[in-house]
This record gives sequence, structure tokens and C-alpha cells, in this order.
Amino acid sequence: MATSSPSPFPPERAAAFGRVAEDYGRLRPAPQEEAVGWMLPEGASAVLDLAAGAGTLTALLAPRVPEVYAVEPDDRMRAVLAERLPDADVRRGSAESIPLPDAAVDAVIVSSAWHWFDTGRAVPEIARVLRSGGRLGIVWNGIDRGVDWVDRWSSGLGGTGGQPAPTERWARRGELLRTALETPDSPFGALEHAAFTTTRRTTPAEAAALLGTYSRVILLPEQERRALLARARDTLCAQLGIGPDDAFDLPFRALTWRAARS
Ligand SMILES: C[S@@+](CC[C@H](N)C(=O)[O-])C[C@H]1O[C@@H](n2cnc3c(N)ncnc32)[C@H](O)[C@@H]1O
Repeated sequence: MATSSPSPFPPERAAAFGRVAEDYGRLRPAPQEEAVGWMLPEGASAVLDLAAGAGTLTALLAPRVPEVYAVEPDDRMRAVLAERLPDADVRRGSAESIPLPDAAVDAVIVSSAWHWFDTGRAVPEIARVLRSGGRLGIVWNGIDRGVDWVDRWSSGLGGTGGQPAPTERWARRGELLRTALETPDSPFGALEHAAFTTTRRTTPAEAAALLGTYSRVILLPEQERRALLARARDTLCAQLGIGPDDAFDLPFRALTWRAARS
């Protein structure tokens, strides 16, 4: 039996997203096309979007791959996904218990969710549903705090749980993956890493609302949450010298890893 190795974050944070499922589906951007292409093996015919949420990544996979499965534990997130992509094969499940038979897919892609998994149970489960030679792709896509003004904006907000500096945060992601996947008896080969940057046209009002889809913000007491989002919008307006509904380009960075199943 697989040994448990729970997520380093409190379980209530993993279950928080359903509270803002519609906002999540509307506001969170998908990882860049190039990042998705980098993670997918060539000629993949069946892919699992694991922890699919509101279907942000599923929507990108569907036109590229003939068979796409979306597995997600939260009922409210799955409902938004199913409404957005009525033809998608959406299944209730988790990384620790995937509702697919053995060797069912050429790739498992995990977007902004690996840190919620009990990796001791999820890694063998992911290996089980992957065909031999198949690919595990992992991505975190977020506002690019590697850009100076974005970091000044984000770290000046306070109240978001004391975010570490961007380079430290990125290093922690890699460490989390190496600990889970580069073990002596791992079913996966060496991890490869790449980063992709882009910008998204948005407004200060939308950028602030986007912050409201992160678990640490979702779980703040209501008044504190509203105050934080208003502060986020207003400081962004002041920093950029624009109004709340004026368009600007917000930088994003997708950190990606991939590993082949042996
Ligand atoms: C930040 S959202 C990411 C959603 C989607 N992959 C995306 O990129 O927009 C994290 C998702 O992971 C799901 N989740 C939390 N714990 C999970 C687990 N153990 N197994 C699978 N999914 C999980 C949550 O319900 C949530 O929908």
C-alpha cells in the first residue's frame, strides 16, 4: 500500500475553490499554449487533466487531443466545467483515487494543483493510469512576480499570508516535485523544467478580482477579503496611473515540469 505524504497546506485551503467556482472559471487564465505543448507528448491520443477545476486547462486540451478526461473532486468546480465544456468527459475523483483504468492515458497534466496532493498516494496512482513511456506534466501559472512592478504591487498588499519572494517560491515548487518524484523507486524518469512568460490584457478591477480566486484570500474573513481586494485595485490604479476599468498588460509566468513514466 502507498505511504501517505500529505500536502504541506491545510486541507480547508484545498477545498476552498468551490466557493468562488464561477469567478475562478471566468478570471483565472490558462497556461500559455507553448507551455501546454511543451508538457504534452507528441501524438498523444488520450490525456487526463487532473484537478481540472473549472476547466481552464481542459478547454485548451480538448482541441489538441482526441480523448480528454477531466478529474476534479469539488462538485461546484465540476459543475462550472461541465457547463463550459458540455462535451467533456468530466469525472468526480482525486489525485489519490483516479476514476480511470490502468494504462488509460498518454499524459497526465496537473495545473496549479500539485501542492494539494497527498503525493505518497498520488504518485503511484498517476503512474497506474499512465501508459509506459507516457508523460506527467505539471504547471503553475500565475501573475509574474519576477517583474519588478508586479512584485512591488503584490508584496505591498499585505494580508495575503506573507508570500515569500518570487525566486524562493519558484524554488520551493521544484523542491516539492523533486521530493515526490526523484526518489530511488520512482516510476518516473528525471524531471525537466521550463518557464514561459506572457502578458494578459486586463483591468485593475479584474486583476484585483483574480486575487480573490486564491485559496488564502478566499478563506479570509469577508470584511478583510473585501478590503484586500479594494486595496489591490486602488494601489494598481495608483501605480499605473490608470482607472479601475482601463486596460493594461499584466505579466504572467508558467512554471512547467515534465517527466516520463518508465
Ligand atoms: C488552483 S485550482 C486549479 C484548477 C485547474 N487545474 C486550473 O488550472 O485552473 C486547484 C484544484 O485542485 C483541486 N484539488 C484539491 N485537492 C485535490 C486532490 N487531492 N486531487 C485532485 N484535485 C484536487 C481543487 O478542488 C481545485 O479545483
